[in-house]
Amino acid sequence: MPNFQKIIESVYNETCNLPDIGKVATYIPELAEISSEKYGIHLLDIDKNEFSFGDTQERFSIQSISKVLTLSMAMSLIGKEVWQRIDVEPSGDPFNHLSLLEQENGIPRNPLINAGAIVIADILVSQLKNPKEEFLEFVRNLAGDQTIKYDEKVALSEKRTGYKNYAAANLLKSYGNLQNDVIKVLDFYFHQCSLSMNCAQLCDTFYLFINEGRCKNNHKHLDKGLIKRINALMLTCGFYDEAGEFAFRVGLPGKSGVGGGIVALLPNKFCVTTWSPGLNKKGNSTRGMAALEKLTSESELSIF
Ligand code: DON
Repeated sequence: MPNFQKIIESVYNETCNLPDIGKVATYIPELAEISSEKYGIHLLDIDKNEFSFGDTQERFSIQSISKVLTLSMAMSLIGKEVWQRIDVEPSGDPFNHLSLLEQENGIPRNPLINAGAIVIADILVSQLKNPKEEFLEFVRNLAGDQTIKYDEKVALSEKRTGYKNYAAANLLKSYGNLQNDVIKVLDFYFHQCSLSMNCAQLCDTFYLFINEGRCKNNHKHLDKGLIKRINALMLTCGFYDEAGEFAFRVGLPGKSGVGGGIVALLPNKFCVTTWSPGLNKKGNSTRGMAALEKLTSESELSIF
């Protein structure tokens, strides 16, 4: 394996002072408070060695990164039944886009755009007795960390202002692709997005995606076949209308969130998380994308 500590430090220094580090998301008011100067890179390799630089211990809102975790839980509960209600094609559209949903009769393009994640939330609300508590427990078990929590302020902030998500959920309902009450499903969705974690915790949580479904504590949570499919979806759909660009520049499956986090991974090798809240126009972290491009170039490690 390459010298990851040296690589992440050089990548950090090369990308820290980009001429334009992007803008912090403001459409969720609570996220607008975060400094765009924050920056951390953390890497966990398959042998559980950790390499870290910058603000990697400070928790942030994982936002859409949570969509991979709810999808994992839904697939572990109902398997391929999920695909009766959601497709697996990249959308080529922004994460909160609505017109495709109408054109395609309420079947979201994939589970990583908002409409798809809302259907997954609906599945979990139907399947679980105490959805928020049980999903939190699922994430804590993947990470081996009982301190992971929702950030109620962030959840409430989005509950008050998430107009596009209300629109998406209502459209889904009108097409018969939402079984539960809109408010109840979105309450779950806003909470999953509000999960607050640091770079190191995100690498721990995503370790099972590089280790054939076994988490860092060696418990088997998902079958190898499910991991293959979830990693494929991260590669093709994890960055919305920038998924092609991410595959082209970085060459790894990954998932971004508007809190400025990105998790990316190379199966059987490593998982890496970057956090820098400045976003580009497509809602993905500017420094994070640049850092991951340099990391895969300098280490000569990518799926290609
Ligand atoms: O639903 C939303 O708009 C946010 N809770 C999550 C969006 C998000 O993170 C998109 N990612 N880049």
